[in-house]
Amino acid sequence: MTFVSRRTLLKSAAVLSAYGAGLAVMPRLSQALAATDPVEIEALTGDVLLDGKQATRGVMRYALSGQTSTDPSPPILRARRGEAFKARLINRLDEPTTIHWHGIRLPNDQDGVPFVTQPHVYTGDRFDYAFSPPDAGTFWYHPHCNTLTQMGRGLAGVLVVEDERDPVFDGEVVLNLRDFRLGGDSQFIEQFKPREAAKTGTFGTLRTANWRPEPHYDVPAGGLVRVRILAADVTRIYNLKLAGAEAQIIAIDGHPLLERIPLDMAVVSPGQRLDLAVRVADSEGVEMVLEDIRPSTPKVVARFRAVGASLKRNLGDLGSLAENAGVEADLSNATEIPLLLSATAETAARDSICGTLGYSFWAINKVPYPGDTPDPTAPIAELKLGRTYLLNVENVTPHAHPIHLHGMNFKAISSNKREVQPLVSDTYLVLPDEKVQLALVADNPGDWVFHCHIIEHQKTGMTGYFRVT
Ligand code: C2O
Ligand code: CU
Repeated sequence: MTFVSRRTLLKSAAVLSAYGAGLAVMPRLSQALAATDPVEIEALTGDVLLDGKQATRGVMRYALSGQTSTDPSPPILRARRGEAFKARLINRLDEPTTIHWHGIRLPNDQDGVPFVTQPHVYTGDRFDYAFSPPDAGTFWYHPHCNTLTQMGRGLAGVLVVEDERDPVFDGEVVLNLRDFRLGGDSQFIEQFKPREAAKTGTFGTLRTANWRPEPHYDVPAGGLVRVRILAADVTRIYNLKLAGAEAQIIAIDGHPLLERIPLDMAVVSPGQRLDLAVRVADSEGVEMVLEDIRPSTPKVVARFRAVGASLKRNLGDLGSLAENAGVEADLSNATEIPLLLSATAETAARDSICGTLGYSFWAINKVPYPGDTPDPTAPIAELKLGRTYLLNVENVTPHAHPIHLHGMNFKAISSNKREVQPLVSDTYLVLPDEKVQLALVADNPGDWVFHCHIIEHQKTGMTGYFRVT
């Protein structure tokens, strides 16, 4: 058997995502992750050509140590379900950082939230993360520190957790969607405007997928391609549609759907992931366009082009993804926790645990985190290990909030606005005036952050945490 080192594997994975040319063929992974060396991830600052005009200064990026790839976008990391994953963060930024592994159920001290689960990783320092992901699927990693700047300037990448029982596709494309906020001179402009932070959040000016505007990928004609999409933007909610090919949604937020649904239009909000199985057109040269139809004029997200002779595959032949653990909530014994998402009186915020934007606009249960309450660092609620809880989330604002929980999954039970599917997830887009019940089992001890993933909302009050003991 041929041995593929993790480093080689990670390199090839990163290159796959970066270059449109060539077939996007998924590497074979079965023997790949036996190595026990940590993957070394450097957080760096540098100049990167983003808009095709001139280099943007002060871009923050992740790179694998020793990586020679010319692709500046964050590497795709790969782990295997149930096997040790080790990553060493090396901080070469001129400010502290951490890595949070979004959607992964891991031990609390690996969760990457400064002052809650670990100390800052200062300039020049390193921090070793290790965990065995219990769920397979599309997850991601990003800092949890000066987050609006660090994520806004580029730090956010995809973490794929493999399961060898998953069906074999003819190709894979990973799309890391995000905007950059640049001025006409290609340089960063103010990351946010307070009046926008108090509404939907401030949008970027340059849309990208894998840090490129409207990239294109070659995919095998007549083949079945897995497209893993991550909404890594700090603000933007996407309404995704794929023209020119048959596609099914196979997983949402990393978790397989029990029954796949044809992709008509899918809403993907900051923090969320969408996995598609795409049946590529038979004729070489046919183009498929992934679009965001949320704005009044649809925007191209990425293009796929069929190449080669048709593989003549059939979506119906695709086996199911290996299942993840569900949320085995005992609803007859559930404790309800009210969670009111509201605006708050505008105040100058105190410096919070990891920088402040200088304002409070939002609150959970009337507390703008870490606001002027008697104990601003108290948890929203204390949960007993093993018990079932029903989070009664009520959004009384006119804006949607993708609310995210660390360390545990929940399942939507009911909503006053729509029929909810009992999907397992870590992020739920709460619509204006929506009341939704999210069930969870408090099965992971520790302090777990709960916040809106529109980062300006998170950083201006819509944050808190649960303590599980
Ligand atoms: Cu992507 Cu606190 O999370
Ligand atoms: Cu929000």
